[in-house]
Amino acid sequence: MTTAPLILITGGAGYIGSHTVVALQQAGFDTIIVDDLSNSEPGVIDGITRITGVRPHFEQVDCCDKPALAAVFDNHPAITAAIHFAASKSVGESVRQPLKYYRNNLLSLINLLDEMIRHHVDQLVFSSSCTVYGQPDHLPVAEDEPVKPAMSPYGNTKQIGEEIIRDAAAANDRLQAVLLRYFNPIGAHPSAEIGERPAGVPQNLVPFITQTAAGLRNELSIFGDDYNTPDGSCIRDYINVVDLAKAHVTALHYLLERKNAQPVEAFNIGTGRGLSVLELIALFRKATGVDLPAKIVGRRPGDIEQVWANPQKANDVLGWRALETIDDTLRSAWNWEKRIRKIT
Ligand code: UFG
Repeated sequence: MTTAPLILITGGAGYIGSHTVVALQQAGFDTIIVDDLSNSEPGVIDGITRITGVRPHFEQVDCCDKPALAAVFDNHPAITAAIHFAASKSVGESVRQPLKYYRNNLLSLINLLDEMIRHHVDQLVFSSSCTVYGQPDHLPVAEDEPVKPAMSPYGNTKQIGEEIIRDAAAANDRLQAVLLRYFNPIGAHPSAEIGERPAGVPQNLVPFITQTAAGLRNELSIFGDDYNTPDGSCIRDYINVVDLAKAHVTALHYLLERKNAQPVEAFNIGTGRGLSVLELIALFRKATGVDLPAKIVGRRPGDIEQVWANPQKANDVLGWRALETIDDTLRSAWNWEKRIRKIT
């Protein structure tokens, strides 16, 4: 009997991480989650287990704690590859607490790369972001679009993270990485066993929508209707989180099967379709039949006017594409919210 490859998932109890653990298990991989639970709950591990029937290994470790991370590698010599999600991710908080972001996001990556190199774990999939493009000059944006100066310390950690990985791979022949530049992940697992559960007031659009629909918030604020877009509101590429999770499995296969042409390659992970804030709200109302009180307010500082992906490279090279419809995706987000708020 051959044993399944063991994949280390930092931040595997988080929103995207937990969906990726499910996708990995369903693809036949063995998984070990490293997460400090600073922005997630142990119940997530139970949710994963209920979906797949397999409990992932779990180590409650902060990746910034080098000796603790080293011990995870020492205790699990079978680790074959790593997917690195563990990071702080609030754009606004990163402006207020930049050092927290540089410390958490960069130190964890450096520690992980150190341990990977020390233990001959050669393949890494890294959570990057479309934020590296800023407001691109061309839409849809492709991977060869120049990286623009970051709009926030958070965005800067993603840019610097990509550079750190490129430099580490240039200096270490064996190290190979895929950088996945996510657009806007939304939705939840169709089982409603796992989903997005932001601490405090949601900063992102869809969790704010579902919490408003659930009655936790009085009203959704639409940040600006005077942008240079067809309806005046900002445009994003909303990618279903299960589709996004599957992109990690595809990227991992790509690396493990040595199909990559370069040691480090970046891929956009989006649908290729831009939706405005007003369109998304209308789609949510239509898909769920739930009313949603909303009002237009002023622009949110730092927002990009419009960005959506050219996902052709991921389609052609990785063989990955977004499959879920926006209606199903919005319904999954609502079903998850209803489940955690015990709404029938
Ligand atoms: N929006 C509202 N009201 C809200 C929340 C958001 O109108 O209550 C609008 C925003 O102004 C924006 C759109 O909805 O136009 C999407 O906003 P999100 O906060 O959901 O997402 P962002 O595009 O700002 O940010 C996301 C991720 C970041 C990542 C960034 C890259 O949250 O981690 O994409 O562009 F860096």
